[in-house]
Amino acid sequence: MTVSLRSTSYDVDPLILGRWSPRSFDASPLSETEALTLFDAARWAPSAYNYQPWRFLYAHREDKVWNEYLDLLLPFNSAWVKDASLLIFVLSDTLFVPLDGTDARPATTNSFDTGAAWALLALQAARLGLHSHALAGYDEGKARGYFDLPDRYRIEVAVAVGRIADKERLPEPLRVRETPSDRLPLDVLAFRDHLPDDFAG
Ligand SMILES: Cc1cc2nc3c(=O)[nH]c(=O)nc-3n(C[C@H](O)[C@H](O)[C@H](O)COP(=O)(O)O)c2cc1C
Repeated sequence: MTVSLRSTSYDVDPLILGRWSPRSFDASPLSETEALTLFDAARWAPSAYNYQPWRFLYAHREDKVWNEYLDLLLPFNSAWVKDASLLIFVLSDTLFVPLDGTDARPATTNSFDTGAAWALLALQAARLGLHSHALAGYDEGKARGYFDLPDRYRIEVAVAVGRIADKERLPEPLRVRETPSDRLPLDVLAFRDHLPDDFAG
């Protein structure tokens, strides 16, 4: 199957192959319904004990805090995220509070589970004709301070969402990178029965 320059040997859903992370967005607004649809999709991710550690803080581009959100990103990212429609900070709860009333304890799968939630959000965005782009390039300390984040919450990632625009909007160095990327081949990722002898290499 081939979707937008990506090809694969097996029958992978086109929604998955069609998702990619552009940087050129058209600076149009997103409706609150579209935003909430993304978070609603994310909340259907599986999690250990169904404890649902993901939390989302978000701003629309027309919100008063938009520039303050942008300012939490590293300059390399804010330079293009400024044209996105929505900027999200994805948090996870590092504390697991069992429903049976036993003591809270450190969670061990909060990041893994929240990664699953982000993946569903990204696919739902693709289904809505939008594009999403995850970002680790933000100032962690500044963001924690800005949000006055309680210690138990970890910032996992920021995510820009918007409508894709012509790559000519981007400065030259980013323009040449504005294309769907490839992946490692399956035979270096998945091993039936046991690891190959050269696995560590
Ligand atoms: C956790 C995470 C952090 C990322 N951080 C950044 C970032 O700070 N800036 C950026 O331009 N892209 C960032 N990316 C985007 C990746 O580079 C991109 O997802 C990857 O190259 C695969 O390309 P694709 O999403 O188009 O398939 C990040 C992606 C993830 C999942």
